[in-house]
Amino acid sequence: MSLVSEKIVVVDFGSKNAQLYARRVRGLNVFCQMVGHEVTAEQIKQMNPVGLVYTDNPLGNEISPEVEALELPTIKDFELTDDGIALLETFLKDVCHCSGSWTMEKFAENAVEEIRQQVGDGRVVCGLSGGVDSSVVAALIYKAIGDRLSCIFVDTGLMRKGEPESVIETFSKQFKTDLHALDRESYFLERLAGVEEPQQKRKIIGKAFIDCFAEEAKKLGDAQFLAQGTIYPDIIESGIPGCNAKIIKHHHNVGGLPDDLKFELVEPLKDLFKDEVRQLGAVLGLSDDMVKRQPFPGPGLGVRCLGELTKAKLDILREADAIVREELKKSGWNEKTSQTFAILLPVKSVGVKDGERTYENAVAIRSVNTIDFMTATWTHLPYEVLETMADRIMAEVDGVNRVVYDISKKPSATIEWE
Ligand code: XMP
Repeated sequence: MSLVSEKIVVVDFGSKNAQLYARRVRGLNVFCQMVGHEVTAEQIKQMNPVGLVYTDNPLGNEISPEVEALELPTIKDFELTDDGIALLETFLKDVCHCSGSWTMEKFAENAVEEIRQQVGDGRVVCGLSGGVDSSVVAALIYKAIGDRLSCIFVDTGLMRKGEPESVIETFSKQFKTDLHALDRESYFLERLAGVEEPQQKRKIIGKAFIDCFAEEAKKLGDAQFLAQGTIYPDIIESGIPGCNAKIIKHHHNVGGLPDDLKFELVEPLKDLFKDEVRQLGAVLGLSDDMVKRQPFPGPGLGVRCLGELTKAKLDILREADAIVREELKKSGWNEKTSQTFAILLPVKSVGVKDGERTYENAVAIRSVNTIDFMTATWTHLPYEVLETMADRIMAEVDGVNRVVYDISKKPSATIEWE
């Protein structure tokens, strides 16, 4: 049962901007959830909203008479302009009598209460990836049940520079969880030796990860719950109530946990958008570095180091990538791009250093802006920022004598190179 008392339901009639409507309602500190226009009256009743917001309706879709018969206060036909938002605010406050007091602090309090209700005196396992979602889930569950949370962190040897250390520091010192940090670098690299083909690399990494995670999780025999960082866009993408036109979730993760590991899922972020997850992380006391982290693929640097993966190549990439990220933050562009990173190319070319001929690696810098990661444009980073990144990489990273900037949009390119 939800502990949120003032809820609005946003009905999506097939709008391109459906998520924006939900964001605007939440921006006015009122909690809301989204449904499709084929939602039934019964589904709406279960959600128990104080009012409905209809999105724009480009296709002339209809809602069932039974939903209309619920006679809930409804706002339709407002545009997403400043005037429209003012109308929405009046509707929420004066018609639906919402207090507008839904804050991230309040969300955290409710979520803690719900986790306690679900878990009782049981134990929860949470896989940490170093990314924002799993870190925030772990911090939240720790707040709810303390050291009855066991975290498993598999260091695959494919993480960014400083990431394993920061995960270990945060979840063993700041949050004193029962942390199981597994150093599996050689395990992964041995399995990946000699493999060049990207799909095969992905499969090996996915399988090795599941094997390590499952082996450790089995040792925690008394844990009944598995925490997952599912967020609201994942839920929307896998189909919201009353919406037949499911958007096919675009994900690359391979494999799942073996059948003999039976956990009940705990998914406390399932109502939050990505930036709300970041806000929640800040409310819980996670560092800026952690909550502002850009998305990172599950197979990690494995998809950014082209060709065979070796420790030497991964170390070069880690150093180059750390410089790119450091300069991005310094320049103030970290939050203005969706993803910015380095790629180690399987190319050597001739260069010159200290009067000597060199024959070394090339690094590419990729920076993109995107809303849904299905399409993306390349970021127009200032030349000075690119120049500093390139100069530093060539001066500081042994084995690199050339840096290029990727100006391909998606499609035709993808975001990652692989
Ligand atoms: P592409 O390369 O397909 O990437 O344009 C789209 C987005 O997905 C991320 N990505 C992944 N995320 N596991 C993930 O969790 C993966 O295996 C994976 N591969 C790609 C990529 O970083 C980009 O944000």
